[in-house]
Amino acid sequence: MSAEPVHQIEFDASAPALGIWQRIRRLLPYFGALRATWAMVAISAVVGAATEPMIPALLKPLLDKGFQQGELPIWTVPVSLLLLFGVRGLAGYISQIGLTRITHHGLLILRQAMFNKILEADLKLFASQSSSTLSNTVVFEVQNGATMLVNALLSLTRNGLTLLALTTYLFYLNWKLTLIVAAIFPAVAWVMRVLTKRLHRLTQANQQATDELAYVVEENVLAHRDVRLYGAQAIQAARFERLSESLRHLAMKSTVAGAAMTPMTQMLAAVALSAVISVALVQSASSATSVGGFVAFVTAMLMIIAPVRQLSEVSSPITRGLVSLERGLALIQSTPNESGGDFAMPRASGHIALAGLRVKYPSATEPALDISELTVMPGETVALVGASGSGKTSLVNVLTRFIDMDAGQVTLDGHDLRDWQLSTLRAQFSLVSQQVVMINDTIAANVALGMPVDRSKVLECLVSANLSQFTQTLPQGIDTLVGHNATQLSGGQRQRLAIARALYKDAPILILDEATSALDTESERAVQEALDRLMKDRTTLVIAHRLSTVHHADRIVVLDHGKIAETGNHTQLLQLDGLYARLYRLGLHSEV
Ligand SMILES: Nc1ncnc2c1ncn2[C@@H]1O[C@H](COP(=O)(O)OP(=O)(O)O)[C@@H](O)[C@H]1O
Ligand SMILES: [Mg+2]
Repeated sequence: MSAEPVHQIEFDASAPALGIWQRIRRLLPYFGALRATWAMVAISAVVGAATEPMIPALLKPLLDKGFQQGELPIWTVPVSLLLLFGVRGLAGYISQIGLTRITHHGLLILRQAMFNKILEADLKLFASQSSSTLSNTVVFEVQNGATMLVNALLSLTRNGLTLLALTTYLFYLNWKLTLIVAAIFPAVAWVMRVLTKRLHRLTQANQQATDELAYVVEENVLAHRDVRLYGAQAIQAARFERLSESLRHLAMKSTVAGAAMTPMTQMLAAVALSAVISVALVQSASSATSVGGFVAFVTAMLMIIAPVRQLSEVSSPITRGLVSLERGLALIQSTPNESGGDFAMPRASGHIALAGLRVKYPSATEPALDISELTVMPGETVALVGASGSGKTSLVNVLTRFIDMDAGQVTLDGHDLRDWQLSTLRAQFSLVSQQVVMINDTIAANVALGMPVDRSKVLECLVSANLSQFTQTLPQGIDTLVGHNATQLSGGQRQRLAIARALYKDAPILILDEATSALDTESERAVQEALDRLMKDRTTLVIAHRLSTVHHADRIVVLDHGKIAETGNHTQLLQLDGLYARLYRLGLHSEV
């Protein structure tokens, strides 16, 4: 039985095969839900656009009739102007509010879907993406993308309709002149197309560079002590500078491409304008074009420049917005979820059996685990011993299905791990390792993680974990916030908090992965006592490089390069005088 192929999770989902409308359509599930609001926005955009040609249209009667006594009642001027701008303003107001509603409604759904994906995604996601990339995508990128895209779409609609209304009016006024203006358009379209393509490539490169920059910051925040201790500041600063510089370079490049658009379209507009005025002057000499008609035409034509210019600027935010949102979509759509089975039982007895287990990391040439057979009986304590890198942690990760096996079978209570419901399977394990992560909440909430807080049970667990003396000294007791990953607790306190958490969960199988390795002798004793209470009546797998724990195990399994080298109890293995005896002599015993 072989595992599914490794998914490389890519955020580059630009999907060049899709046209821009198809790409926008993929966002409809998020941004297309509020039909009524869209309708409102569309109507107000149409109304707003329809008011545009009315401004030059009002000029025509004003000039032709208004300046001849008695032909135009004076009151009509303020009334029509106020009415016109009132309607225009209201339409703009409504569409702006409508679009904000649509944007943030869509963002809400999109962000929720992204966060749920982070909670449910196959764990390979976290191997291929850094936390800064993921948080940047969920928090900032989709927000910027949606705002840019929606505003650009509003501009596209509003200006497109305005352009349409003004052109229609121009045709109605003087179709010959209008054809001259229209001849300019293919040129504008071509300029836009060429520049848009370049902008798109630059935008993607820009986002990549931003991620890399954020990653350097993340790493340096994480490793701030090591950087100082090893004097690596200069190297890190140089690294940051190189990335900032490439970001600056890209920003310049995309501005160079983007900024050329406006003057180029304006030049084309000026060409059209001069042509039109010359032709109109020639026409007026021969035919009966009125002054009002000419002024209305030129005004309408000048009014066309603004929407044309804005339309030419719309492509960059659309492209940038789409690229950002598509990274969010890629996270949701092309990241596989963890897959589990349907089998569930409330509490396993803790019988674990491995057969023909093989695990190979994609980057490695040799399998990290290659175990032909291993059985752990309910209630048994099995110690896993082996040199660093021999596969102990990998074995533990297979049991909780944090990594997939490539071949073989592992059963818990006779049922293949892959048949177990993931949540039920993981409910059978408590894990205390060196890297237990605390969430920024109260001590009580950290102990009861994932379960309702039962205060008396929390206190009980803290007592058993030898931590209650410490929590009593805290001003707010178990309601004290532990802060970002509980960094203000000492190593031993964190470890005991992790043990309290494991006690609270009360799972049938306990895994201790070098749970005491980071501790000094003093706190190790406190932790060891807590661990002994925790291990009672449970199936326990203990990984330790100190023999105090290993001594008392029912069975010791020695791993070597992913294979089981020896099994037996302490005395048997010493008599065997093999790998265990060598490891023992090498220094394990000195720590007993
Ligand atoms: N996420 C990973 N990707 C690639 N290789 C890994 C990964 N985790 C562990 N390994 C490799 O697998 C081997 C076993 O590692 P591990 O199970 O952590 O050993 P141990 O816990 O016994 O020190 C090592 O050679 C290690 O380099
Ligand atoms: Mg390990």
